[in-house]
Amino acid sequence: MTTGQKRVLSGMQPSGLLHLGNWLGALENWNALQEQYECFFFVADWHALSSNYADTSRIREYVRELLIDWLAAGIDPKRATVFVQSQVPDHAILHLLFSMIIPVSWLERNPTYKEKQEEIKERDLSTYGFLGYPVLQAADILLYKPDFVPVGKDQLPHLELTRELARRFNSLYRPVFPDPQEHLTKFAKVLGTDGRKMSKSYGNAINLSDQEPVVRQKIKTMITDPARVRRHDPGNPDVCPVYDFHKIFSPLPVIEQINQDCRKAAIGCIDCKKLVADRVVERLAPMWEARATLTQHPSRLDEIAEDGRRRATAVSSQTMAEVRDAMKI
Ligand code: AMP
Ligand code: TRP
Repeated sequence: MTTGQKRVLSGMQPSGLLHLGNWLGALENWNALQEQYECFFFVADWHALSSNYADTSRIREYVRELLIDWLAAGIDPKRATVFVQSQVPDHAILHLLFSMIIPVSWLERNPTYKEKQEEIKERDLSTYGFLGYPVLQAADILLYKPDFVPVGKDQLPHLELTRELARRFNSLYRPVFPDPQEHLTKFAKVLGTDGRKMSKSYGNAINLSDQEPVVRQKIKTMITDPARVRRHDPGNPDVCPVYDFHKIFSPLPVIEQINQDCRKAAIGCIDCKKLVADRVVERLAPMWEARATLTQHPSRLDEIAEDGRRRATAVSSQTMAEVRDAMKI
């Protein structure tokens, strides 16, 4: 870990298998960041409890799957510190101390709090932990004093609250925390097989861990330009999610060719899908190999998490020493 290098921190909740949208929208960004910055990437398993506290049966499995997805997609545990939130108790301690100073009104007006409660009607989210979700997130972030936090747009209110909390702490006691900035991912949204945004909850996702026949089958059943009913009807690639896949996965000459051929009905949807499926499979194949190796050597995952825990704790314990000193406890 080089000193003077800017620091990056981000986390994901272990709530299921990662898909192409998560990979291209978030992980590829992390991959690039780890080349340049000192990175901390963690699995937010306590955060997963905030809305799934009643059914914890699969949480350990999801933590492992998420770590496997990250490593298979290129996160390098030698460069980046990869760890699991619940293995670093400092997150809980700082959360507790922050809970003493954060006004409840800040949490109640957090837009994601209300939205998620509206959205998830089948679970009781009137809990203390759910309201305090952003307090835990602020602790996650500020423990490592990062310069940047790569997140999607939906996380911006949490980051703003983190900065407000840091300022409040600094003015109540003494300056300990920096003002971490968001690092928004440039990547456009990846569409799912039904043409809506790819998402775990829509059943339209291609997962990084899907086997080749599954990937091919999912692409085969993707929707295309709805106006193109018969093979000889000309199509409009601009409204076709398969063409969107080409734009992501195919080389430029192929993209241009498909664009022309679709408009002239010179290529049919079945062939067009087959072409892009080959490309997707090509990109996923190295991940399947990496995934197989990790699955065969489960202790390797434990070693990586343990190494990450140690490296994360080295930083978090320093921050906690400053916090205790500032608060005189
Ligand atoms: P989620 O698990 O849905 O909260 O997604 C985690 C991260 O993956 C988000 O912050 C986004 O950056 C990214 N992501 C999720 N779905 C997509 C998508 N369909 N297209 C692009 N990026 C996505
Ligand atoms: N709330 C984030 C999400 O749902 C996950 C998360 C928890 C996080 N703690 C974090 C992200 C700290 C960035 C930094 O995606």
